[in-house]
Amino acid sequence: MRDVAVIGVGCTEFGEHWGTSFRDLFVKAGALALEDAGVTGERLDALYVGNMSAGRFVEQEHIGALIADYAGLATNNTPSTRVEAACASGGLAFRQAVIAVASGMEDVVVAAGVEKMTDVGTGASVDMLASAADREWEGFAGATFPGLYAMIANDYMHRYPLTREQLALVAVKNHENGAKNPIAQFRNRITVDTVLNSSLVADPLRLFDCSPITDGAAAVVVVPLERAREFTDSPVRVLASAQASDTIALHDRRDISTLDASVAAGKRAFTQAGLTHKDIDMLEVHDCFTIAEICAIEDLGFCKKGEAGRLTADGATALGGEIPVNTSGGLKACGHPVGATGIKQIYEIVSQLRGEAGARQVDAEIGMAHNVGGTGATVVVHILGA
Ligand code: COA
Repeated sequence: MRDVAVIGVGCTEFGEHWGTSFRDLFVKAGALALEDAGVTGERLDALYVGNMSAGRFVEQEHIGALIADYAGLATNNTPSTRVEAACASGGLAFRQAVIAVASGMEDVVVAAGVEKMTDVGTGASVDMLASAADREWEGFAGATFPGLYAMIANDYMHRYPLTREQLALVAVKNHENGAKNPIAQFRNRITVDTVLNSSLVADPLRLFDCSPITDGAAAVVVVPLERAREFTDSPVRVLASAQASDTIALHDRRDISTLDASVAAGKRAFTQAGLTHKDIDMLEVHDCFTIAEICAIEDLGFCKKGEAGRLTADGATALGGEIPVNTSGGLKACGHPVGATGIKQIYEIVSQLRGEAGARQVDAEIGMAHNVGGTGATVVVHILGA
């Protein structure tokens, strides 16, 4: 296996892009990544594109070929593959690119993610997202993702000392970080009262506990580490790439407040990298709902079960804290174009490790990305190092 490095990153602004088509979103992010890497399209050996549901959001399938075509790569016959794992599609596309380069099969590879969700209304969007849960046992019974994560939150708050205010502080912190991120969908600062007074979505989760519905695309370029200096003076190394699965339905879990796939993928990543929690300087975790960030911090082992609320309230997860979490603003403030989120997490970590994160900059040499599909049926964890 060869060591792998990221040599370029690009990301569109996340938000409502009613004037930009699905394919144009990708082309924009891809062009930014190639420009950043100093690579031209003809040099690409392959593309891996994370996308959850273009067939239902924009009525377009065959995404791999479409993306290659509109990126101007069809004439080169560049192989292009769509990767789908619900909201973890982006993280998994990155993992496929890393595996392809590590194996020696391909050299210069783009991993991208794209989703355009706002062409349909909220009801349709929420229903499409719900197809990533168990349709027969959850979806048909009316359970949507806000509902499923609300069940996790209720169970968690019943068993552990997490207050409603501590949960709100996750969103307050992520909006604070998002306010400093030029690609974020929401750049407004909020208070605990903003969260507590926002409309109830699925008890106890309110509007500001939820990630929004978003359009966006992100892309990164990976190459073998031994070739990285041909392209850039600041390659970022991929120190670990891990993945784990769990039951698709929440009710089949051993414990619904612990995402066992996060625990497994986290452990595998630490073993691969030969690192411990103390070595990680920053985390991008999958905060599709505020409770998800609390669970992620604990399931990845950064504190004991039941302690992440206090950690958040103490400021340990804020910029400049002991372990900054979601410096990008996370899914909550950055937005969550489901297929693109996992690649945006890599984009944020690379930006931080290269010292290019502007007002969000933290002191970091090693970062971890955690991307979740469904309520934790797929989890992908990467560790990157400067
Ligand atoms: N956080 C903060 N503000 C939000 C928001 C969010 N998550 N979602 C929407 N808004 C704002 C909008 O900007 C808009 O503000 P404005 O009136 O000032 O323009 C207002 O709230 C209403 O927006 P709208 O699009 O009508 O919201 P909605 O009620 O249709 O949808 C949710 C809100 C929470 C239901 C929707 O965002 C949702 O389902 N989120 C979860 C997505 C999800 O499940 N993803 C997968 C996770 S696994």
